[in-house]
Amino acid sequence: MNLRERLRVMFFCISSVLAMTIVALAGFLPASLFAHARKPATIQAENDTGAITHHPALLLGAAWYPEQWPESRWDKDLALMEAAHITFARVGEFAWSRMEPSEGKFDFDWLEKAIDMAAQHHVAIVLGTPTAAPPAWLTQKYPDTLRIGPDGRRAQHGNRQHFSFTSPRYREFCWQIAGEMAKRFGHNPNVIGWQIDNEYAEPSYDDYTKQLFQQWLKVKYGTLANLNDRWTTAYWSQTYDNWSEIPLGGEGPNNPGLKLEFMRFISHTWADYQQNQIDAIRPYADKRQFITTNFMGFFEGFDHYVVSRALDLASWDDYVGEGQVNPDMNGLTHDLNRGFKHKNFWVMETQPGAVNWADINNFLNRGEVRAMAWQAIGHGADAVEYWQWRSALNGQEQYHGTLVGPDGTPVPFYNEVKDIGRDFAKVGGDFRDTTPVSQVALLYSYDSRWAIDFQQHTDKYDQLALLRDYYAALRKRAQSVDVVNPYSNLDAYKLVVAPDLNVLPKDMAQHLLDYVRQGGNLVLGPRSDMKDQYNALLTQRQPGYLADALGGRVEQYYALLNDVPLSGEWGNGNATIWAEQLGAANGDAQVLMRYGASNGWLDGQPAVLTHRYGKGRITYIGAILDPDLMSKAADWMVAQSGVTPAFGSVPDGVYVSRREGEGKRIFVMVNFTREEKHVELRHAMQALLAGHEESSVDLAAYGVEVFLDQR
Ligand code: GAL
Repeated sequence: MNLRERLRVMFFCISSVLAMTIVALAGFLPASLFAHARKPATIQAENDTGAITHHPALLLGAAWYPEQWPESRWDKDLALMEAAHITFARVGEFAWSRMEPSEGKFDFDWLEKAIDMAAQHHVAIVLGTPTAAPPAWLTQKYPDTLRIGPDGRRAQHGNRQHFSFTSPRYREFCWQIAGEMAKRFGHNPNVIGWQIDNEYAEPSYDDYTKQLFQQWLKVKYGTLANLNDRWTTAYWSQTYDNWSEIPLGGEGPNNPGLKLEFMRFISHTWADYQQNQIDAIRPYADKRQFITTNFMGFFEGFDHYVVSRALDLASWDDYVGEGQVNPDMNGLTHDLNRGFKHKNFWVMETQPGAVNWADINNFLNRGEVRAMAWQAIGHGADAVEYWQWRSALNGQEQYHGTLVGPDGTPVPFYNEVKDIGRDFAKVGGDFRDTTPVSQVALLYSYDSRWAIDFQQHTDKYDQLALLRDYYAALRKRAQSVDVVNPYSNLDAYKLVVAPDLNVLPKDMAQHLLDYVRQGGNLVLGPRSDMKDQYNALLTQRQPGYLADALGGRVEQYYALLNDVPLSGEWGNGNATIWAEQLGAANGDAQVLMRYGASNGWLDGQPAVLTHRYGKGRITYIGAILDPDLMSKAADWMVAQSGVTPAFGSVPDGVYVSRREGEGKRIFVMVNFTREEKHVELRHAMQALLAGHEESSVDLAAYGVEVFLDQR
């Protein structure tokens, strides 16, 4: 280890210690919310000119790999991009072997030429750091940089993501390449931002990672006695009497406390891995250059709230794979990503028709990709980028969709992108400084997601399906929903819904109770507040710290083999998959729904309770509801909390979104069906794509219109 490596390892440990101390002082925030204790990267280079290439408000992009093609071809590609109104390209994210062909020998001349040539075609650049694909010279000479899988096997060269995210040596190489790139391009006026690495995903299960995990636990728990107590290790003789005995909590069954901490450790480690590169770039980069990384939607491999913290903006890769786009799931995922930073985000990759990795790589219908692009914008994306521009002639993704074929000429799909580009150019300016504003928030927590996944209790329990069902019902009515971390400021929301917030420690409960006390409406779904921050069962029945405010509790939970009838205030329907028998304490809570005849235990028992608390209300829904009943529950939630729709009535299959700002409101209306749909507007508005005022609109199959409402 050279001096810098040692310093970085020390830094990793010291940063953990500091973070834990801050957490301890702050009174037991969960580990998933650890502040990164490293000094925030705010240093600006002295010669920061602050020059701003004022890029368009809505950007359209393509992932371009100039390193795969002769220089003589670049101008042709860029001219074709410009003709399609493509305003940015992301480059570099896998080009390490071109940027550093041998150890310590950097070559950025070709990249600078490509960036300059792009500028001539008004194509701005997002620069990817190439660290998801270390070159062969590196992994051959330093095999210790290669990742170890959960099976104990070392990754081989020839794929990507084959590095170990904790390897000090690998971090050193990342630091160097990112820093060298920033020295060269941090002031380049055509570089508008940075993407760190690409789709963080695979942790390493090597010995060094294990040692770090053990140190991390030591800092967090202080003593083994404390850890043993929190994890109830007396169970099955799991008691540890030396930190070095604690395994990585990766694959397979193990103590739920250990498993949850391991996921938090992975989150912390990815944030730290990322910070290494942010620290390398920031001192040399203009302030105007943003730093992001590209997430994978609902990927559960790390806590995205933790990893987003140091980024300037969140971005994600929106792939459908097999089948057609599900507008609810896709809208939900946009809203999740908007919630990471509570601001607009980018779609950093999306599919140009088809992918190559699904079981059946069908091509999306004509117009469907355009509908997806506008849906993204409606939900707060400021950029949409297609992966990839042109098929690489060899390599693993030869069959993937592109805009240009291997022959270098546009494929038919290119024209759909061109239409999107034309429209972005036409109306993009109206979107500047606008963002969605919602009255409803859904709470999403990685701790709860992991805790339930570790012990599903019924393999039919699908958290994402439950979240999507709540989302779809609420979004249909409110037409705008935020998806946020439970610790977020909730003051602005009329309605806050937590479909299954299983890990709900005391400080989170206090936060939610403050919201209700001040007049908020909180709705909890099944499995709520069962666990503390160590993933241990609470000694109060569900919903633990919230039970008093609810004036009721869960008496017993049941995984269902068959549906159970429900009836009451919301009419008749069924509980599916999961049902909790509720009890109202001293008749405090009002019973809204009861179970019908079932397993004997549930018969006639309360299924939904509601109770006024402070100036607000808390409601507990103890069952997974069938779709019809979910609609009725959503009607009740919306009416009861005074939520109003962002736009107004639209036919089924038409999705509307609203962005606000600068004294204006913009509605994006997308028809996700293959039939024409007629929509009446509340009053005449400027239809920006059509270019005139309208009081109604006929949307063709997958049709889109954008309305400017200045009233
Ligand atoms: C993404 C990845 C891209 C490309 C794409 C293909 O996950 O970031 O590099 O592989 O998938 O769909």
